[in-house]
Amino acid sequence: MLGQVTWGTVYRALFNLFFRRLSPERAHGLALALIAAMGEFGPGRALARACFRVGRVGWPTLPAGGGERPGRLDPAASSDDDRAGQAVPAGGGERTDPAGRQLTGRAGRQLFGRDLPGPLGLAAGFDKDAKAVKGLAALGFSFVEVGTVTRFPQPGNPRPRLWRLIDQRALRNAMGFNNAGSTAVARTLRRLRASAGGGDLVVGVNIGKSKVTDPSEAAGDYFVSARRLAKYADYLVVNVSSPNTPGLRDLQAVAALRPILQAARAGADQSLARAGRPGRTPLLVKIAPDLSDADVDAVAALVEELDLDGIVAVNTTVAHDLGAGGLSGPPLRQRGLEVVRRLRGQLGAGRTVMGVGGIASAADIADYLAAGADAVQAYTAFIYQGPAWPARVQRAPARGRAAPGALRKGIRPS
Ligand SMILES: Cc1cc2nc3c(=O)[nH]c(=O)nc-3n(C[C@H](O)[C@H](O)[C@H](O)COP(=O)(O)O)c2cc1C
Repeated sequence: MLGQVTWGTVYRALFNLFFRRLSPERAHGLALALIAAMGEFGPGRALARACFRVGRVGWPTLPAGGGERPGRLDPAASSDDDRAGQAVPAGGGERTDPAGRQLTGRAGRQLFGRDLPGPLGLAAGFDKDAKAVKGLAALGFSFVEVGTVTRFPQPGNPRPRLWRLIDQRALRNAMGFNNAGSTAVARTLRRLRASAGGGDLVVGVNIGKSKVTDPSEAAGDYFVSARRLAKYADYLVVNVSSPNTPGLRDLQAVAALRPILQAARAGADQSLARAGRPGRTPLLVKIAPDLSDADVDAVAALVEELDLDGIVAVNTTVAHDLGAGGLSGPPLRQRGLEVVRRLRGQLGAGRTVMGVGGIASAADIADYLAAGADAVQAYTAFIYQGPAWPARVQRAPARGRAAPGALRKGIRPS
């Protein structure tokens, strides 16, 4: 307990004295470089795992009747134990690929056939070029989604393009998919997969449209990136929901989305076939919180029609008047939960719902799982709460919402 308080206090002091004096993007670059460097060395990873007690990460025990979880949770298991809440598979509705791998997260403790130590992964956008995956896993993220990766390398939008809203513990970003491109990221992932311990990590790859590609040609971009990347990914996400690439979100309309998802599916299948590997890389689509309920339903129906594997909900929101870019963090939480609940109702058993948006506490994770998410992701809370947070939040017993205000300590408003 003392250790947890100490790391939180140290990070708060560091944030207030140092990080917040840097531009948000410079602070991000520095943090990413440190995490990547730590992750390169076995002793660095071992030290991080020991300091942040990553071995004690587990799944929360949901309150009785808390949502329609596909895998019942073992009530006898303590949530502060490595064996915490072992799932009792609900049975039925699970899908397997031709190689017999389970394709969905519906057994409760797995994502696409891979065991997850806990429910929380890192959301896309933090490690766009897959440079720090090992370090991020050593901090306790149960899986890491890298990207968004585009077909062509691109610098992103002009700076400044990332802003803190410290009083809300939120961020606004207009990054515009700055990334090294899918050829370079495929090379990085190949090295990661071949390295000691890198093959076992659960890694999702999020792909998007290059800025130079006309929206009418978008399917070709997704096809090429999927073909380059799918063989290194535990799952692939088609991102059509970032507000920072002109015209991208219009691709969420079903008529535009269908050929893109079909192209990504074909590219991913070619990727595995060329590698001589059986099975399929699970394919999901990531949607915006600003879609109407009817549009959410339409995307869910398309996912069923194309027999895709699930939906990541949600991306950042443009429902603000603060300037360019999308807002993330607590302002997203309520809509994120609504969309996840809706998707769980719309999608048949066997499709995965990945919940993301405003998760900042163990109670938030429990709420998303109770709403029907199979696993969850976060980005913004990691920035505000620091390197001990991913493991801490997956250790904390979470039985529904904590008392109001109990989780609002931390960074003081500026
Ligand atoms: C600085 C920043 C960059 C992001 N970049 C991406 C991205 O490249 N691709 C993507 O799908 N989502 C991106 N996101 C959205 C996150 O993955 C996530 O959906 C969103 O921030 C909501 O989660 P949060 O409230 O935990 O931050 C980005 C978010 C932030 C704050």
